[in-house]
Amino acid sequence: MKRFTFDYTSPRVVFGAQSVSALPDEIRRLGLRSLLVVSTRDQHELAKDIVRPINDSIAGYFDGATMHVPVEVVEKAQRAFEDAGADSIIAIGGGSTTGLAKILSMRLGVSSLVIPTTYAGSEMTTIWGTTEDGLKRTGRDARVLPKTVIYDPLLTIGLPPAISVTSGLNAIAHAVEGLYAAELNPILEMMCKQGIVALIDAIPRLVAKPADIDARTDALFGAWMCGTALCHLGMGLHHKLCHTLGGTLNLPHAEAHAVVLPHALAYNLPNAPTARRLLEGVVGNDDVPGTLYDLAKNAGAPLSLAEIGMRSEDIPIVLDLALKDQYPNPRPLEPDGLETLLANAFYGRRPTFH
Ligand SMILES: NC(=O)c1ccc[n+]([C@@H]2O[C@H](COP(=O)([O-])OP(=O)(O)OC[C@H]3O[C@@H](n4cnc5c(N)ncnc54)[C@H](O)[C@@H]3O)[C@@H](O)[C@H]2O)c1
Repeated sequence: MKRFTFDYTSPRVVFGAQSVSALPDEIRRLGLRSLLVVSTRDQHELAKDIVRPINDSIAGYFDGATMHVPVEVVEKAQRAFEDAGADSIIAIGGGSTTGLAKILSMRLGVSSLVIPTTYAGSEMTTIWGTTEDGLKRTGRDARVLPKTVIYDPLLTIGLPPAISVTSGLNAIAHAVEGLYAAELNPILEMMCKQGIVALIDAIPRLVAKPADIDARTDALFGAWMCGTALCHLGMGLHHKLCHTLGGTLNLPHAEAHAVVLPHALAYNLPNAPTARRLLEGVVGNDDVPGTLYDLAKNAGAPLSLAEIGMRSEDIPIVLDLALKDQYPNPRPLEPDGLETLLANAFYGRRPTFH
């Protein structure tokens, strides 16, 4: 084993079915007295139910969280925070809601407690993002990390299977790319593997039975592990492509990840022997890209970029942008290879190493 330094950053985590009942103790532990509850409009009633046991500590509600954390929404939420005389934030919802809480924590220098209801994993990362005039800005700041995260799988039962699957595959992508990151260490390697195993195992079960508590528990554990990978490890070609597909072509975030992942691996794994060996161990065969493609197919996830809104004339645009920036990746960026990757992903072909 090589020498390594691990600067581990994590919120305190309370995990498991009914762990939301720990909320009053967790609030007390943090010394929070006056919380703004942040959610989307759809999840307002759920949020109200969850905070009922700590009603005395609730200063107000902001239920306007939306996708991409637009700066106007951040400003409205900040006004709600100040008008309510709040001292901290409790966020209940998916990556968009957590994203808003993170920006507020950074701007106002206040603590947050997050109760995630999807598998996005944002609650585990120091990455923030906001959108202004259609442009997404992202960065890293330790202040955005929640103080405590309560992972209660019972709250994910209502997450529709289609979103559960794509958001689970999106989480897997963080851990998969983490396995060939330069910063990988033995602890993070364990976490990546555990995250992938948990989600690969859970996805077919939660499609077959969305209310399966064990499957939901495994998937949420996987999301935690994969979010940790995203926080600590550099991401490569797969994330770069998805960023372009989302940012430039406005394709849906999790769906784009779900489609591209097997193809990015067919391109990268021949040059990432250690990650390949680890992933082969995880999936139990030597066709990791094909196995992930089949997992998505059998779970009803989209398989082609065409079906999620890309046009064939967009392929050269994405190819150009992928080649433009330099970023760490196990295999050098080769125009021919990337074109094959994008064409396979566009048409939804079963990936083969190339
Ligand atoms: N900063 C980071 O580290 C990081 C990491 C991952 C994702 N993200 C960001 O998170 C966003 C995606 O988050 P997401 O996939 O969680 O989607 P989301 O938060 O946008 O939620 C999608 C919809 O699902 C609803 N919903 C959430 N949980 C539900 C549940 N349990 N039952 C029923 N409905 C539910 C929400 O109300 C919302 O309408 C993206 O913008 C992405 O960039 C950020």
